Amino acid sequence: MTDTLTIRRPDDWHLHFRDGDVMRAVVPYTARQFARAIVMPNLTPPITTTEMARDYRERILAAVPEGHDFMPLMTCYLTDTTNVDDLARGAGEGVFTAAKLYPANATTNSASGVSDVELIYPVLERMEAEGIVLCVHGEVTDHDIDVFDREAEFIERHLRAIIANFPKLKVVFEHITTLDAVEFVKASGPNVAATITPQHLHINRNAMLVGGIQPHNYCLPVAKRETHRLALRAAATSGSPKFFLGTDSAPHFRHDKESACGCAGIFGAPVALESYLTVFDEEGAIEQFEGFASLYGPAFYGLPVNEDSVTLERAESPVPDELALAGSTIVPWHGGQTLGWRFRG
Ligand code: DOR
Ligand code: ZN
Repeated sequence: MTDTLTIRRPDDWHLHFRDGDVMRAVVPYTARQFARAIVMPNLTPPITTTEMARDYRERILAAVPEGHDFMPLMTCYLTDTTNVDDLARGAGEGVFTAAKLYPANATTNSASGVSDVELIYPVLERMEAEGIVLCVHGEVTDHDIDVFDREAEFIERHLRAIIANFPKLKVVFEHITTLDAVEFVKASGPNVAATITPQHLHINRNAMLVGGIQPHNYCLPVAKRETHRLALRAAATSGSPKFFLGTDSAPHFRHDKESACGCAGIFGAPVALESYLTVFDEEGAIEQFEGFASLYGPAFYGLPVNEDSVTLERAESPVPDELALAGSTIVPWHGGQTLGWRFRG
């Protein structure tokens, strides 16, 4: 039995840092485990220009604790009126690593998102030409579509068309939650990949709805039924380079989640690697973990792999019920549980 695992330092290919005090409180958790992270732009106001992204990157870098070599990779929030020249300039100058498509009102701070995907086809055309990665929140927002069907419906209504129209565009289908998404990504070319969160590998929708409403298991896209969770576990541990790590770590204060209209998002950063490795261990696939966590993401984004390494050890690892952060409290993913792996550093 493997009791320690040393792998190249991983990267987190999708997370939310927020801004201000919360950002300063959460960045150290990610910088402790990861070398780089794709930072979501859904602030208020959203990060829509090169200048905004450059400033935001500086604020994040200023929050990285001494002794950590951490690089935030910035994304441009696409809107109906994105300035494509500015996006291309920002990508050329190394400020933007990707652009993010939020369908309007799909999730937290997405009101300024794209109201009709076809409106941004000229932007996608330029991104395809310039090799800029498109990160997609793949859910339709139409009120007539059941929340559990929104991801599968997005594939049929939008993603197939995007990929058919822009066959060389690099697309990351983010935080996938369904067998439909797994199959779609597998059947697509090498320019289409997906990230998978730890929560969608651990829980199905029962964890959110059985025994009382469980707001700390609520995120978007919502966890689906067990069949889908099993498909995600198989994909993540398969060794396919199309599936890689993206926590979607999304801090919300405890009181905002435990409310009559609780926020979507799970704060996974404090125990990200321990959580993922538990799944790989349960699946008998520890040898596939380094590819998922540290190799396939850089390969897809065309970036070098990290040179240093991290070690995890098999040991009881209790997770606190809550963390005092930014003058309030945040419940971390796995809060109150004991994991079987510990991050050593
Ligand atoms: O659960 C989520 N939380 N899903 C998202 O897409 C956004 C995120 C957030 O920003 O809180
Ligand atoms: Zn997200």
